[in-house]
Amino acid sequence: MAFKLKDGMVLGAASAATQIEGGDCGHNWIDWYRRGKIPDGSDPARATSHYSLWREDAELMTEMGIKTYRLGIEWARICPTQSSVNLDAVAHYREELTYLRDHGISVLLTIHHFTNPMWFEKKGGFTKAENLVDFLDYVRLTVRSFGDLVSEYITINEPNVYAANSFYFGLWPPGKKSMGQTITVMTNMAVCHIQAYALIHKLRREMGLDNTRVSFALHMRVFDPENQRNPYHRLCAHMLERFFQDAVTQAMCFGVFKWPLHPAPAIKRGEYCDFIALNYYTRTTVSGFADGTRKGAPKNDLGWEIYPEGIVRCCKKLCQLIKCPVYITENGTCDNADAFRCRYIYEHLKALAESGLPVERYYHWCFCDNFEWLEGESARFGLVYVDYQTQKRTVKKTGNFYAEVIRAGGVTDEIFDKYVKAQTYHY
Ligand code: BGC
Repeated sequence: MAFKLKDGMVLGAASAATQIEGGDCGHNWIDWYRRGKIPDGSDPARATSHYSLWREDAELMTEMGIKTYRLGIEWARICPTQSSVNLDAVAHYREELTYLRDHGISVLLTIHHFTNPMWFEKKGGFTKAENLVDFLDYVRLTVRSFGDLVSEYITINEPNVYAANSFYFGLWPPGKKSMGQTITVMTNMAVCHIQAYALIHKLRREMGLDNTRVSFALHMRVFDPENQRNPYHRLCAHMLERFFQDAVTQAMCFGVFKWPLHPAPAIKRGEYCDFIALNYYTRTTVSGFADGTRKGAPKNDLGWEIYPEGIVRCCKKLCQLIKCPVYITENGTCDNADAFRCRYIYEHLKALAESGLPVERYYHWCFCDNFEWLEGESARFGLVYVDYQTQKRTVKKTGNFYAEVIRAGGVTDEIFDKYVKAQTYHY
């Protein structure tokens, strides 16, 4: 039952600015909330008040032994209008980043995590090629402001999830339902990533800094046909995989823009990531052009299949594509009662440890329960429980488990018996 983590593998935690910071800073999720689009009525201006409670969160992380933290900055906060910079926000983030550094917590900084300032949204956001320069201005400002404190960057989080939810399913702002726009947005985001990759390296070089590492976070699933012998199921699985993740991965990693993406003649072929950044949650079981879940499989509170082997299958596929270290930039589960999360983490970490893959980091999604986009405050993924009324933090059983795994460099028999043994999934 016991296992050791791969030598040198570091366990951390992840978050995203909009999901934790709180405050009204003029972005598209505040607007979406005001338009009544969050079913449980959660207001992202509340979230976990991390913008004021960041020090308390950082102290908690230190107590838990967390040594690396993936966090984001909020574009709308830093650039309240297209032509202005909020220097207080820059100073605020510098203070937080400095504190983390001084307390031995390394930072992986996400520049864009689903949220756009309204001024950018109103001019068409990532649907318009002429707007990409705005994103690159923001990247430049980010590196000039924080480049001395941060050497590792995620340019864009999950372009495929953003494009699909915002432009295909119409669930997220701006609520469009257009395959054409979905493809355009994925293409434009891939171009943005490649240009940002080059820009971040160039700026840090000019600042005399080395060890820069840049990537994008890929939300990757396993797509398996429901019935392996059914050619239609196989075809749909293949098509969904290509549309949702394969094409955009090729574009962002290598500058190769193939169907269904649009060509990007300005982009040269090359290698545009210094590490693989994989966000893994679940598998999709395919019997048509829709999301499906395997019958009889264990599921989390949102109905997502729990499939630990999938994290290894996804990693292997990426490692065959590109030779670089792997960071699991997100992995976690919605378990409101904190009843099976220890087992979930245990099984995913064990699968990774036994795979022999070059995984250097694992960032648990997420540190504190937070604003889970459309599910608002109703879906809890955290190591730490948040009472949203009082903003009181309480380390969950899983948080204690995680701290012990960090300390032990793996799961010992004692840790297994104490936290995992009695936990079962629901089906
Ligand atoms: C996103 C997170 C989100 C998590 C759980 C990922 O796709 O990057 O922002 O909270 O999944 O749904």
